Amino acid sequence: MTEVIVALDVDTLHKEEELLERLKGTITFYKVGMRLFTAHGRRAVELVQKHGGRVFLDLKFMDIPQTVAHAVEESQKLGVDAVSIHLLGGSEMARAAAQASPRPKIWGVTVLTSLGPQDVRVFHPRASLPSMVRNLARMGWAAGIDGTICSAQEVLHLRKTLKNLPLKFVTPGIRPAGGAAHDQKRVMTPEEAAAIGIDYVVIGRPITGAPDPLRAAQDILASMKHAAPRSLETPR
Ligand code: C5P
Repeated sequence: MTEVIVALDVDTLHKEEELLERLKGTITFYKVGMRLFTAHGRRAVELVQKHGGRVFLDLKFMDIPQTVAHAVEESQKLGVDAVSIHLLGGSEMARAAAQASPRPKIWGVTVLTSLGPQDVRVFHPRASLPSMVRNLARMGWAAGIDGTICSAQEVLHLRKTLKNLPLKFVTPGIRPAGGAAHDQKRVMTPEEAAAIGIDYVVIGRPITGAPDPLRAAQDILASMKHAAPRSLETPR
């Protein structure tokens, strides 16, 4: 069952609360990212919790291992369900994060969904985006993290090449058919994401920027419910 996480990419607690009120009873998992957290800190997290929601704290930690491990420990004190790290920070950093105890779930960003094949050539002229995603996902799993953040377009390939690693897939870059891509380059529709059994889809602007966010969320959930499961290339 695919769960929707709504990205609360707004700048005020008032706007955050408006969204939480509108979506109450329909959405229970929310992403607090760097904009809201930088502006309002723990109050942004507590507001979600006050409305009965769970929090994915998406601050994409990437620093030396000890600093990241300490940040993960602090996020546990906030009572969040999941935090993100950037796997480009290396395996030692990912392992230090995974070994923090107690800790929330850790989801590792492979390659941002706003990047395309040309962008990764900065690493190497022949760098291939799919192999970077695969290698980073595998490294994250070996380090002991719980999930991988990538484009939904990469999930089937990752399941096939990483065999049955028990990694959860968390995918931003989700756009209803015909919707604006904004700055996302590797996108997929909610129906397709549900059909291939992605664990969590992170959706921001298609819901939060809609004239009626509740209606937009309900339409997305309905389309996912009716998605025909696509046979997976590897059993889950
Ligand atoms: O508005 P939109 O649906 O594009 O929001 C997607 C959210 O997911 C944003 O908050 C963005 O920070 C986040 N994200 C992403 N790509 C990643 C990891 C997180 O777009 N690889």
